[in-house]
Amino acid sequence: MIRIRGLKKWFKTRHGQVEALRGIDLEVGEREFFVLLGPSGCGKTTTLRCVAGLERADQGEIEVGGTTVSSPEKGIYVPTEKRDIGMVFQSYAIWPHMNVFQNVAFPLIKGRRQIPRHQVAEKVSQALKLVQLGGLEDRPATDLSGGQQQRVAMARAVVTEPTILLMDEPLSNLDARLREQMRLELRKITRSIGVTTLYVTHDQAEALSLGDRVCVMNEGEILQIGSPQEVYSRPQNLFVAQFVGEMNFIRGRLSGDGQVESPFGKVRCALPQGCQRGSEVTLAIRPEHLTLQPRAAAGAACVEAKVLTKNYLGDAALLEVDACGVNLRVKLAGDAAFAVGEKAVLVLPPDRWSVYA
Ligand SMILES: Nc1ncnc2c1ncn2[C@@H]1O[C@H](COP(=O)(O)OP(=O)(O)OP(=O)(O)O)[C@@H](O)[C@H]1O
Ligand SMILES: [Mg+2]
Repeated sequence: MIRIRGLKKWFKTRHGQVEALRGIDLEVGEREFFVLLGPSGCGKTTTLRCVAGLERADQGEIEVGGTTVSSPEKGIYVPTEKRDIGMVFQSYAIWPHMNVFQNVAFPLIKGRRQIPRHQVAEKVSQALKLVQLGGLEDRPATDLSGGQQQRVAMARAVVTEPTILLMDEPLSNLDARLREQMRLELRKITRSIGVTTLYVTHDQAEALSLGDRVCVMNEGEILQIGSPQEVYSRPQNLFVAQFVGEMNFIRGRLSGDGQVESPFGKVRCALPQGCQRGSEVTLAIRPEHLTLQPRAAAGAACVEAKVLTKNYLGDAALLEVDACGVNLRVKLAGDAAFAVGEKAVLVLPPDRWSVYA
């Protein structure tokens, strides 16, 4: 539905050129919920704005629904209002001098898809029901809570039944509880109308819970595209491993027999390509993949550890332990039966390690 090839974008600033996008390639399938995830300044908004036509790319092609909407090389640039797109941004950008009805009706009256007046009321009412604001048509937009304003913005974005929905951090102005609730609703709404969605966030938890696929970006480049499970369980490089979820990192060295020498002894794991014997590598393992036991179990790889700190999280406990002179975080389900200062045995599951050059 959306196809981006070799997208590049430079910004001229007083301090010289900023290379915001360094060659982005991605495809979003029909009805897919595709999330762009990355730290501040990595180029998420710029990518979205190029798709929307709010920003002109310097190189590369953007296709929407099989039609090229942007290609500087071919001299093609379709303006925003001619692209079949709905948008929701971080700042609600609803008009304060209008009531709810007028806000949502605006694209139907002013947009390219003008429809007969008698249908406007019905479409607006449908869109408001979808976001659970049915009956609030006459309410002034300023008399709404943050969550309600964001719903109005959502209703306004979908009222024209666009084929593509672009969302740029639409939940970041909401408090934590409302954000989680709206997250679930967003997903329900986009599913029920079957719209193709390109969604931007710097919040990895949001990306993992919302996306059919997640695209991790850094410094204007794509580092990994995959399902939330793939990105979480098999980060392809150190940056993704650091950015998505919690991870323990340990220095190691490649030994001659294809294993990694670490402070815990030799670790056997899939090695990155092109690694030389003797070269330094980084081992990574998630806190929830480590476990603590009172005593060593036969056959399991384990080392002695001492509990340094313990943080009770309700449904789990996060412990910091010292094992072979290395500090590691261990996440145990429930309330862990280990106290600070206590000695225990740390179990290192051999199939959970990742290695990065
Ligand atoms: N209008 C502009 N003029 C100059 N530089 C810009 C402009 N817009 C963006 N940039 C630069 O381009 C890069 C990418 O910016 P972009 O807004 O796409 O990042 P982002 O991933 O959306 O970040 P955030 O999470 O903070 O919103 C940054 O280095 C930014 O400073
Ligand atoms: Mg942004």
